[in-house]
Amino acid sequence: MVYIKDGLLRPVSVFRHIVVLLLLNHLRGGQSQETGPPQLVVAMLGDDIILPCQLEPPMNAVSMTMEWGRRDLEPRFVLVWHDGQELLTDQNKAYKGRASVSINNLTLGDFSLRLSSVKISDSGTYRCYFPKLNKEYLVELLVGAASSPAISLAGIHKATSGVMLDCRSEGWYPEPEVLWLDGEGNLLSAGPPETVRGPDDLYTVSSRVTVEKRPSNRFTCRVQQKNINQTRETHIYVPEDFFVSPSSCSASVAMSVLFGLMFALTVV
Ligand SMILES: *[C@@H]1O[C@H](CO)[C@@H](O)[C@H](O)[C@H]1NC(C)=O
Ligand SMILES: *[C@@H]1O[C@H](CO)[C@@H](O)[C@H](O)[C@H]1NC(C)=O
Repeated sequence: MVYIKDGLLRPVSVFRHIVVLLLLNHLRGGQSQETGPPQLVVAMLGDDIILPCQLEPPMNAVSMTMEWGRRDLEPRFVLVWHDGQELLTDQNKAYKGRASVSINNLTLGDFSLRLSSVKISDSGTYRCYFPKLNKEYLVELLVGAASSPAISLAGIHKATSGVMLDCRSEGWYPEPEVLWLDGEGNLLSAGPPETVRGPDDLYTVSSRVTVEKRPSNRFTCRVQQKNINQTRETHIYVPEDFFVSPSSCSASVAMSVLFGLMFALTVV
């Protein structure tokens, strides 16, 4: 059996792999000393990140067997370190070529994992595990995504002569909330937002509001997700003329003017 590392083909004994994986599996059920609650790492889609793991007290760990893993995956191995190098045989395919550790840092007991170009599906609880020392450190990773909303005109609400505005924002994780505000920053009441989750795990949200004439006629659609500390907003100005009865002639003129303005203003 061979595997590729640094572009070189290296023969690796099947026997050794089996021993290491048996060792890791055997010790998996044992009581590990957990050091505190999981550390939280928040990242944005596509970031290169570090999941921290520092042995305390610091010691040279280069020759130890260590594992980064996720118990919710099969196989659970994100990165296995054995005999001074990475053992790639049983690595989960989702992490192929994206996970690494620094051998220099290992001499100081720092087994932090570098993960490149993170995906939404990388979100989860990671375990940094030293079987010989019976020690584990947990890190919770949340990978988020955010994008700016776009506002479009949905029509005129006949009964009230209010203007209906639609706000739509694609590409969020986790699911965000949508708020409408007037020019003074007051919350406007809108119907419940519509949320769709795409095959890429990302959410698309849309929300419709009917607005009446206001002193400034300036409206904001704000999309936010507190867990990843992200807020995006887009403003729109609705000309005053537009709030008159839709049957009048000036309204249809205003309508075409408004369409022009919408395109100009929804650019972020
Ligand atoms: C190694 O340690 C240095 C200094 O603390 C740090 O900047 C770097 O990100 C570490 N590398 C990894 C892969 O953990
Ligand atoms: C959230 O983001 C704002 C602006 O980007 C920043 O000032 C603030 O420190 C962040 N808060 C947290 C809890 O990360």
